[in-house]
Amino acid sequence: MNIAVIGTGYVGLVTGAVLASFGNKVIALDVDKEKISLLKKGEVPFFEPGLKDLVLKGIEKNNLIFTSSYSEAIFKASIIFICVGTPAKKNGDYDLSYVYSAAKSIGQNLKDYSVVCIKSTVPPSTSKKVEEIIKKVTVVPFDLASCPEFLKEGSAVKDSFSPSRVVIGTETKKARDLLLKLHQPIKGPRVSCDLKSAQLIKYAANAFLATKISFINSIARLCDQIGADIDKVAEGLGLDPRIGQDFLKAGLGYGGSCFPKDTWALITYAKRLGYDFKFLKEVDNVNQNQVAYFLEKAVRLLGGSIKGKTVSILGLSFKPNTDDVREARSLDLIRELKKMGAKIKVYDPEALNTAKAVLKGVEFCSSSDKALKGSSALLLVTEWEEFKKLNLKKIGKLMKDKVIIDGRNMFDKRQVKSLGFSYEGVGRK
Ligand SMILES: NC(=O)c1ccc[n+]([C@@H]2O[C@H](COP(=O)([O-])OP(=O)(O)OC[C@H]3O[C@@H](n4cnc5c(N)ncnc54)[C@H](O)[C@@H]3O)[C@@H](O)[C@H]2O)c1
Repeated sequence: MNIAVIGTGYVGLVTGAVLASFGNKVIALDVDKEKISLLKKGEVPFFEPGLKDLVLKGIEKNNLIFTSSYSEAIFKASIIFICVGTPAKKNGDYDLSYVYSAAKSIGQNLKDYSVVCIKSTVPPSTSKKVEEIIKKVTVVPFDLASCPEFLKEGSAVKDSFSPSRVVIGTETKKARDLLLKLHQPIKGPRVSCDLKSAQLIKYAANAFLATKISFINSIARLCDQIGADIDKVAEGLGLDPRIGQDFLKAGLGYGGSCFPKDTWALITYAKRLGYDFKFLKEVDNVNQNQVAYFLEKAVRLLGGSIKGKTVSILGLSFKPNTDDVREARSLDLIRELKKMGAKIKVYDPEALNTAKAVLKGVEFCSSSDKALKGSSALLLVTEWEEFKKLNLKKIGKLMKDKVIIDGRNMFDKRQVKSLGFSYEGVGRK
């Protein structure tokens, strides 16, 4: 099948490369010309395990082509996937301008019947507006569809080959049949539904996962109060198959390019419909407060003040195996630490460059050892595999004070304490 993918970020590029690997002819488009010229050379502009190989294979077989020209991208496409960003505005409202702009360009260049399928995460009201925008500039027939994306950064390629489910939101049989055919080689159950339900599934999924995280962080607060162990509580809780083990890890809370903005978007969308989504507001509230709660622990372990002290942040990306720092907890933490007058050294295995673009006033280090040398505290923010293997004995000698505040409950607390460190996790005294 001829496919066009609009937007070559995490979702668009992975989608394009995976569909090309099944023998489809994919043209991937981005308005960012620099990105396109890198991609044409087979260079992937962000870190995502396995993606570069897949992109290179697609290019080699001539199944994956990159362009900045809408007319070239959608000239022959049977299905056009919109995969552009839907970021949050400063006030938490959703910014759909990239989707609307893509829709207009699609309409202006449509030559023949196509299915225009929104993969970006958008509120259900978006489809109507997208349809209006396209119809304003073309008389060529098209069907609108929505296949929300559930990939996880860090395992995006694997997730796209075998997703937990494929959601296909359509209003016509023709569009549904085409999308079902395209997804045939992809494993996993199908959920065929109308457009609005498809888009709500995506928001509900992210809001629910965010809820699990804020819930376990609230239980962790109780553990801290009474000296119970959140790891054991979560284990005992998650073994109930109705609850499940995933997303029951207490810590600094959620960040990233999806959970925070999608939670805010659902709250805003609900408000526009006249529903005050208080429950979800509290989920967000718990998450926002988690950084301050973590810092209280740091201040306490550092004898009441952080002012003038050197602290080392290990991990900048919002989770391991990605270089994405959008809404990363590290950024909130560093902002607060700066206000407190701390000197901050940071290290991340992959996200130093992306962080440099948004972080000022910190010392970027090229290794954990360099970040920890002379430091008064190790603040673990992202649970990279590399940090699990740290030589704690050696680190103890490098640091000025042997203090670890573990924002992901990653270290073996007994081992850390036995090596003479002062240690605190979240809910695991
Ligand atoms: N990143 C994830 O893990 C993930 C997972 C599931 C769903 N989503 C959703 O998918 C969407 C895309 O997310 P992402 O992380 O891939 O975004 P991204 O910011 O990484 O990429 C978006 C790309 O779209 C391009 N773009 C913007 N306007 C354009 C236009 N008019 N025409 C063509 N290209 C344009 C940008 O230059 C950019 O390269 C969002 O709605 C997001 O919420 C993301």
